[in-house]
Amino acid sequence: MIHGGLAVRRLRSLDTRTMEVLERIGREALGDSALDHWMLPVVARCGMLFVASLGRETVGAAEVLICMGEDEQMSDTGNDLYLEGLYISPEHQGKGYGATLLFEVVSNLANGKFRRILATVDPENEAGRRLYHRVGFREIAELPDHYGAGRHRLSIELELAGLSASGNK
Ligand SMILES: CC(C)(COP(=O)(O)OP(=O)(O)OC[C@H]1O[C@@H](n2cnc3c(N)ncnc32)[C@H](O)[C@@H]1OP(=O)(O)O)[C@@H](O)C(=O)NCCC(=O)NCCS
Repeated sequence: MIHGGLAVRRLRSLDTRTMEVLERIGREALGDSALDHWMLPVVARCGMLFVASLGRETVGAAEVLICMGEDEQMSDTGNDLYLEGLYISPEHQGKGYGATLLFEVVSNLANGKFRRILATVDPENEAGRRLYHRVGFREIAELPDHYGAGRHRLSIELELAGLSASGNK
């Protein structure tokens, strides 16, 4: 699907070049929390990997996992998805591509099979919080020290039931 020049597609496997680019721009955007060449192919095969590109240039990605149904903090997560990572390369940020990518991903996942998309966001990540809010996510809990001492997160969710497959733009 192409919106405003941005093409979003799901990849089920990764060629070497695409993997190198995703690893680099993931690291630039997310630092050491970015997935590397050990995990990106796993997400592509066992989860869902969506890649955003402008022409031949890969500019961002969204990494989605499928929840197994039981979670100590979130209780029943049956039929839920977890958005593990979302990023746009720094040189392309602030141009609406993150919103386009996330709307496309949500639209793709609002297919009746899944109940919610869960994710976390750094409370100090203003761009991330604005983006998630704009797409319809709501903040449901604070997760202090979620990723280790001082690495706090907000737990967020988007109900997929009721969204049409064309998304909620
Ligand atoms: C978060 C991210 C994906 C947003 O993508 P983007 O293409 O830069 O964002 P967009 O241009 O589509 O804008 C989305 C919203 O964020 C806001 N925004 C974008 N850059 C911003 C910034 N530097 N500061 C504050 N708000 C910002 C926009 O104003 C917009 O909000 P609005 O609709 O209320 O106006 C991107 O900035 C990124 O990759 N950041 C680093 C990784 C990250 O934080 N990922 C999300 C958490 S996992």
